[in-house]
Amino acid sequence: MVDVILGLQWGDEGKGKIVDYFAPNYDVIARFQGGPNAGHTLYIDGKKVVLHQIPSGIFHQHADNLIGNGIVLDPITLKKECETVAALGIDVKKNLFIAERANIIVPTHRALDKASELQKGDKKIGSTLKGIGPAYMDKTGRNALRVGDLLDKSFITQYIKLRLKHQKLLDNFHFNEDISALEEEFFDALEYLKTLNIVNGEYFINNKISQGKNILAEGAQGSMLDIDFGTFPFVTSSNTISAGVCTGLGIAPNKINDIIGITKAYCTRVGGGPFPTELHDETGENLRKLGGEFGATTGRPRRCGWLDLVALNFSCMINGVTKIVMTKADVLDSFNEIKVCTSYNVEGKNTKEIPFQLSKVDVEPVYQEFKGWSDKPSVNVTKAEDLSQNMKDYIQFINKEINTEVKFISNGPEREKIIVL
Ligand code: GDP
Ligand code: IMO
Ligand code: MG
Repeated sequence: MVDVILGLQWGDEGKGKIVDYFAPNYDVIARFQGGPNAGHTLYIDGKKVVLHQIPSGIFHQHADNLIGNGIVLDPITLKKECETVAALGIDVKKNLFIAERANIIVPTHRALDKASELQKGDKKIGSTLKGIGPAYMDKTGRNALRVGDLLDKSFITQYIKLRLKHQKLLDNFHFNEDISALEEEFFDALEYLKTLNIVNGEYFINNKISQGKNILAEGAQGSMLDIDFGTFPFVTSSNTISAGVCTGLGIAPNKINDIIGITKAYCTRVGGGPFPTELHDETGENLRKLGGEFGATTGRPRRCGWLDLVALNFSCMINGVTKIVMTKADVLDSFNEIKVCTSYNVEGKNTKEIPFQLSKVDVEPVYQEFKGWSDKPSVNVTKAEDLSQNMKDYIQFINKEINTEVKFISNGPEREKIIVL
């Protein structure tokens, strides 16, 4: 049986924390797309850990953690991450597995990412500059190096060919940056990568399914950043939605059971692109401050705004979400008034649908207002019945509007801060 946890907004919904919470119920935790652009925050014995490519089940010794074929893997970041988790007593050689079909991010991918962003002028995507776009371009362009190629004698020749291709592209961009130090680190990290468990991911996972094991697929980014269905071109370069689980792990669609979608109780976005409910005022500033809304990968301040049910509805539809986890409810604890966007006015017409090019039309969000729940702050609550009636009303309204149920509320960054509804 395979369940999925993924983000329903523009990323950073709290996937890391929620995967870590659910991990005891699963035998395998597997990442299926993205790469080191992700930053998933966990608190382990009070210590903050940010994972970029290693699945968020790594701190559960009983579980195997798989980096799937759909990932673009940066060996330099991976080595650092492995060192971080090893320092916390985890033996990655035992419970971390890497699919041989995963694509490798090479140093020139990072340079190409920068060059491409520079060329965009004021239309920047706001990429994390980790080389994600160029690495996926080499995958679809059929030029990429894969983890399994590492064990091949011709690896270095293949690498040199790719590097020459990249150099021509960088010359076209008139981009010149010395990457020799990074390259040295890269080759050192490749030697380390060779010592890890490199497996055939699709047999690995399907054998587990045959043995009756429980698999949890962990998404990165969010549905509104999906390459096909997100706010294109301000998106990432992979399918972040539930369909990505099939191609990113080699799992058939009929093996997928629950699709657990995560949304914050409000909305954030980091990087460029449309964000209809963004607040440029004091309320937005408060959300950023109270929610600690700064990027886990780049440290950039996240843009903040009210919950957008048009976008949430769209994400539930595209993913087939069966259950919702609402995170960061505690961040709204001190607000007297809370708003939710129920529809858009797009150039004078009211709609509950996401327009084709959200970035090119004038969107005015239509809001419904709710009373806050400062009478019973959620942060102190452990049982659903103790929640403020105002908060229950807020949740009930959302359930009705999106026709999917919020089943869990997260009310703090720590593992145990979850209220089951
Ligand atoms: P991810 O990329 O989806 O895993 O999310 P990030 O780790 O990038 O960002 C989520 C941030 O919110 C992290 O700093 C988490 O520690 C924190 N967080 C997660 N859940 C909650 C919650 O319920 N309440 C609060 N206050 N913080 C949370
Ligand atoms: P997690 O998994 C939030 C955003 C970037 C940029 C766009 C493209 O932590 O939720 P890329 O580096 O992929 O070329 O950037 O996508 N982005 C994220 N935003 N959370 C993430 O991951 C993100 N990964 C990429 O800010 O706008
Ligand atoms: Mg994140």
